[in-house]
Amino acid sequence: MGNIFLAKSAGFCFGVERAVKMVSDQIENRTSMDERIYTYGPIIHNDTVVSDFEKRGAHVISEEDMATVENGTVVIRSHGVTKQTIDDLEACGHKIVDATCPFVKKIHKIVAKYSEDGYKILIIGNEKHPEVQGIIGWIKPGTEYIVIGNEEDAESLHFSKGEKVCLVSQTTFNHNKFQELVEIINEKGYDMFAMSTICNATELRQKEAAEIAAQVDVMLVIGDKNSSNSRKLFEICSNKCDNTFFIQTADDLDLSVLQSIHNIGITAGASTPQKIIEEVQKKCQQKILNKC
Ligand code: F3S
Repeated sequence: MGNIFLAKSAGFCFGVERAVKMVSDQIENRTSMDERIYTYGPIIHNDTVVSDFEKRGAHVISEEDMATVENGTVVIRSHGVTKQTIDDLEACGHKIVDATCPFVKKIHKIVAKYSEDGYKILIIGNEKHPEVQGIIGWIKPGTEYIVIGNEEDAESLHFSKGEKVCLVSQTTFNHNKFQELVEIINEKGYDMFAMSTICNATELRQKEAAEIAAQVDVMLVIGDKNSSNSRKLFEICSNKCDNTFFIQTADDLDLSVLQSIHNIGITAGASTPQKIIEEVQKKCQQKILNKC
């Protein structure tokens, strides 16, 4: 008989849960169907959730159409946006409901304050990620900043010795990698204010995923293909378990991979709805029962 180990930390994190609820509340509390509700970009990296909101009347808008759509309430997603984007949305006549995760908001405040105080800003993360783009947008204009993601970047940092440098991280950055990079940067002799702004939810989910992956025959990581934290989970689990699979829904689960399997581990990224996790769990349970 096989066992299923479902990670307790699988699925929506606090910030995503909060953002999804804020959109739901806007839909449910509107007094007239004429009131327009938008999310600025997909509220989370999950097609199922986004299309469900579309059906209920919350439409995704982008920078390109913010000026042309009818005025309405725009919910800002948990990743956050630049200050300029908030200003532009308001200038277009929209009302803002800010669902930026408080942990991301904290980074906005740190970079705004320290850049104001003359610090250069160093962000550990992926420059292309919307969260990092949002963070950059809160740095005082004209301040020198750099985004680094690996050891080579850290080695080749060019700020002068003694320079005032404020270091923060993308919330979903890998904790161990962050420590490694900070060790390299510490050697550079900057006058540094460093804060690990990696979110605890991510760290716990990564740790638990690694622990489960190390004990099972097959590890399933459920997440949207566009979700960076899900892809990172996949990377971490793959290092512990050769039979790690990335799936978006229960339909992607190829049951033949569970053929001679005893222990199955399941985890899921921060934007994976509970319903999808349960469906995957159920499918695995049925497979195990059918083998008995
Ligand atoms: Fe917030 Fe952490 Fe989630 S930063 S959006 S609670 S992963």
